[in-house]
Amino acid sequence: MHLTLRQLEVFQAVARNLSYTRAAEALHLSQPAVSMQIRQLEEAAGLPLFEKLGKQIHLTEAGHEFHRCAQAVGRQLQELEEVVEALKGVQMGHLRISVATTANYFATRLLAAFARRYPGTTFSLDITNRKTLLDQLAANETDLVIMGKPPDELDLDATAFMDNPLVIIAPPSHPLASAQAIPLRRLQGESFVAREQQSGTRIAMERFFSERGIKLKTGMEMTSNSAIKHAVEAGLGLGIVSVHTLELELEAGRLVILDVEDFPIQRHWYLVKCLGKRLSPVAQAFFDFLMGDDAAHLIQPIVGR
Ligand code: PGA
Repeated sequence: MHLTLRQLEVFQAVARNLSYTRAAEALHLSQPAVSMQIRQLEEAAGLPLFEKLGKQIHLTEAGHEFHRCAQAVGRQLQELEEVVEALKGVQMGHLRISVATTANYFATRLLAAFARRYPGTTFSLDITNRKTLLDQLAANETDLVIMGKPPDELDLDATAFMDNPLVIIAPPSHPLASAQAIPLRRLQGESFVAREQQSGTRIAMERFFSERGIKLKTGMEMTSNSAIKHAVEAGLGLGIVSVHTLELELEAGRLVILDVEDFPIQRHWYLVKCLGKRLSPVAQAFFDFLMGDDAAHLIQPIVGR
């Protein structure tokens, strides 16, 4: 059966008024236009929907069924309209956000502040590695991504929104722990516990040292910042991590940041989307929130330490 929403709308007007004339008035149509729509609907149904007894029209049995279903469709359409309106106002939007492993340390804090501002919103947060983030962007599987600078050659729209300094960490008992202005060459004798090859942290670290002609001993690799911090605390070597991963360990005095020449490595966090992607209202609101002063303020206290 091929029906249009317009036909159902006309049908409902007639069913409510039990009069073609009054239905036509309500819909600002001519009476013949209403009759024609009903005739087409009856043809599509293969059954009469109204019957005339004397001067009065009545719903047939099929007409009653149509009326019930048309009301349900009307309610659903109304609901859809409300949801769409709410989405436009951000109140009921769902945000799909994916973040680099390291960004996990502050992403939930940002989401919590955003949720306080827009209480009706919901989120799905995927914490994953850099390669998966780029794959998700290519497949349009996420609204927004927080990561280090993506490769220039990809069709992405990347906006820097926050500093991401990388620092060298050591246990407080390390001989270099209280040294000042440690020359880079002094690090060549040290073992490093490094992040995996494709991580943003590792790429930045490799670039920094190769530009300065320094070769580090990076025999130990780990895919998580917290594994690196535990390894450094346990004396396996020095580590290079984002300062955003360090709040608790610095506070508890379990790790220290070494004062090394040319450090920290200055990086930035980027908010990334596919080039030309139209953000949903909630994604746009999150984007605007991150670009505003409030978000930077939230993260500020841990950057300064
Ligand atoms: P990562 O962080 O090191 O966890 O990949 C992202 C980045 O710094 O680019």
